[in-house]
Amino acid sequence: MPKITLPANSLMLSKDFVFGVATSSFQIEGDRKGRQDCIWDTFCSQPNAIEDSSNGDIACEHVEYWQQDIELIDSLGVDAYRLSISWPRVMNEDGSVNELGMRFYVNLVDELLKRNMKVFVTLYHWDLPQYLEDQGGWLNRETAFAFQTYAAAVANALGEKVYAYATLNEPFCSAYLGYETGVHAPGKTGVGNGRKAAHHLLLAHGLALKVLRQQCPNSLHGIVLNFSTCHAQSESAQDKQAAKWADEYHNQWYLKPLMHAEYPEIIEKLSADERPDVIDGDMDIISQPIDYLGINYYTRTVYEADNQQWFKVVPPVDKPLTAMGWEITPDAFTEILVDLHTQYTLPPIYITENGAAMNDELVDGQVKDDDRIDYFRTHLNAVNTAIEKGVNIKGYFAWSLMDNFEWALGYSKRFGIVHVDYNTQKRTVKQSGHAYAELVKSRINGYISGIK
Ligand code: FCB
Repeated sequence: MPKITLPANSLMLSKDFVFGVATSSFQIEGDRKGRQDCIWDTFCSQPNAIEDSSNGDIACEHVEYWQQDIELIDSLGVDAYRLSISWPRVMNEDGSVNELGMRFYVNLVDELLKRNMKVFVTLYHWDLPQYLEDQGGWLNRETAFAFQTYAAAVANALGEKVYAYATLNEPFCSAYLGYETGVHAPGKTGVGNGRKAAHHLLLAHGLALKVLRQQCPNSLHGIVLNFSTCHAQSESAQDKQAAKWADEYHNQWYLKPLMHAEYPEIIEKLSADERPDVIDGDMDIISQPIDYLGINYYTRTVYEADNQQWFKVVPPVDKPLTAMGWEITPDAFTEILVDLHTQYTLPPIYITENGAAMNDELVDGQVKDDDRIDYFRTHLNAVNTAIEKGVNIKGYFAWSLMDNFEWALGYSKRFGIVHVDYNTQKRTVKQSGHAYAELVKSRINGYISGIK
């Protein structure tokens, strides 16, 4: 079995560096009856919305098997588990707490703590209660305040047992994919909708941050953003400009308001009715200091100029791809980390997601996913290189603990380091899971020599 190796004396081999695995509520939990509906339930019921016409009703039945799943996480030897809370499981429509739903997470967190694991909680990994979408969802400014109430309820129940809270996961996806291109729930479209949703999401982040900090001063508080390195198709000034606009629209749109209290220049290109409604004081709320930045990275994107739009994606041809059709580009991972570190004075960074869907086959009880092991090895080394170049990275979470519902692609794509048989719910650790565990367990308190 190939190994995941890091260079000797890598900071990542010190016990201070956090290694974890990540999941999200809608993608694994199932038990739809135990919660209110969310926008993904509604979206999944629309014809052709999900590639395999599936939904999250059952998923990995994690609500049923959570104890086994924690045991599984523990068996990998990781330091931390990143999970998300299902807003519609813990909050009723009238704003009261669903005690039974909240208890599920209290028990989960208690069990993780018993096993000495650090708990990273994300409050919003895309499962907006449908009752809020019915009032306009993220197009309605009030949703940001409902999020603040929800954050306060979670902080009240879980308190400082949570090592690190993240307000949102990838607001880019919620806003752009959910409200601008419509390929994710709730399936709305239009530039104006996308930009307004993004602003309200960022406002929600800031409002929640205030109460989280007040209620849990000793936990870390941050947000998780996704980045894709934007490369130009050619050296032409037009293509370079296109890549720059894409970077502003997809990456900087979410980070610049947090760090510099303003949207990037590309906002000037929007018509008045496409611009978000920014009210006095919003940018101050959004730009409160955060304790850490979560970064999710999967691939780079190549852009070219286009006379219909500001930038156009050039799909990869003749390149090594994952099963998602995403180009495998570890160097671009180092590049974006170093770039962001150069452009901003960032707080400590956790890589909150990184991983790959591959065409796995379960044969004789084994998944020999050498390709995924290779992805982890090259991307962990890319993180190591970024650290050597001065980027302050404190941890890394593999996406994902186990195969799960991959949004618009349903169960057709497998990202897990653990295989899930959806008929029996049997979990089988893939070779990549064993390799990851071996790397993690090879550490001792100080540095150890990695094997190159
Ligand atoms: C990220 C999501 C995560 C998962 C991975 C593959 O954008 O945060 O839920 O779907 O992509």
